[in-house]
Amino acid sequence: MRVFVTGATGFIGSALTNELVNAGHRVLGLARSDEGAKALTAVGAQVHRGSLEDLASLRSAASKSDGVIHLAFIHDFAKFQENCETDRRAIEALGAALSGSDRPLIVTSGTGIVAPGRLSTEEDAPAVSSASIPRVASEEAAAAVRERGLRVSVVRLPQVHDRRRQGLITYAIDIARQKGVSAYVGDGKNRWPAVHLLDAARLYRLVIEKGGAGARYHAVAEEGVPLRQIAEIIGRRLNLSVVSKSPAEAMEHFGWLGVFAGHDSPASSALTRERLGWHPVGPALIADLERADKLEI
Ligand SMILES: NC(=O)c1ccc[n+]([C@@H]2O[C@H](COP(=O)([O-])OP(=O)(O)OC[C@H]3O[C@@H](n4cnc5c(N)ncnc54)[C@H](OP(=O)(O)O)[C@@H]3O)[C@@H](O)[C@H]2O)c1
Repeated sequence: MRVFVTGATGFIGSALTNELVNAGHRVLGLARSDEGAKALTAVGAQVHRGSLEDLASLRSAASKSDGVIHLAFIHDFAKFQENCETDRRAIEALGAALSGSDRPLIVTSGTGIVAPGRLSTEEDAPAVSSASIPRVASEEAAAAVRERGLRVSVVRLPQVHDRRRQGLITYAIDIARQKGVSAYVGDGKNRWPAVHLLDAARLYRLVIEKGGAGARYHAVAEEGVPLRQIAEIIGRRLNLSVVSKSPAEAMEHFGWLGVFAGHDSPASSALTRERLGWHPVGPALIADLERADKLEI
């Protein structure tokens, strides 16, 4: 297949580009800089210059492709809501370019938005709208595109990790260094699910190759790792004390990350494994934190 990948220059997109190229697919990767274009060419991808804000650039690449995987996102959390709305418009533009065909569109979402406080599954629609949790906009856009008859599916990501990056935990490590303590919220039993980068990349490939229309997939290898365990390993490796914060103190301590730090958002991937024959092989999150570059003193 010739797959248009937005976010192909990013953490997950780079791994996905390698995965697709190694499996014999052709990748058309979105690049917004010369540096990004160079990186894509180096791994055997074709380059499409454009951006999330340039909807015509997204439409033109999608219309030349056999399928689209949408991973690009503007990770400026100070403008989170605005960036989620940019994502909505990008998904609608990609969908419009594929209309009248059965070429697949894969949209990226997060497991954390689905059903806070209980184990979420692929059958769950997000419990709330984008008015309460802005990132739900991505799934709302996917649903709107699907209603127009398109073959769209959603991949929900947990904390995606390798030795270089570990999702939101990467930011928690920076905060622990700045504040001189490694914190969790309350008793720290709240759980974050996780997946290794290469397992996540393999799942996207399986979805573009054989995913069902309208399906949701969970790229989850570990259903939920307690935040206290994560805080403890950060503390141990950085020689910092590990402390509990009340929910109110957590907003002060973690800043924008405070909204997520106390979330209990375990997620199942039983249906994803069964439907696609996806078997994550790790390493596990704690194993990657044990040797994380950012935790070197
Ligand atoms: N990593 C995780 O643990 C995790 C967890 C849940 C959900 N997700 C979601 O998974 C997706 C990929 O995440 P990631 O960790 O790979 O992110 P990342 O490393 O920050 O990469 C973001 C990608 O989006 C591109 N991008 C940013 N702004 C853009 C713009 N205005 N126009 C075009 N492209 C733009 C970047 O291009 P440049 O290279 O030019 O900057 C890069 O390719 C995102 O939707 C993210 O929210 C990730």
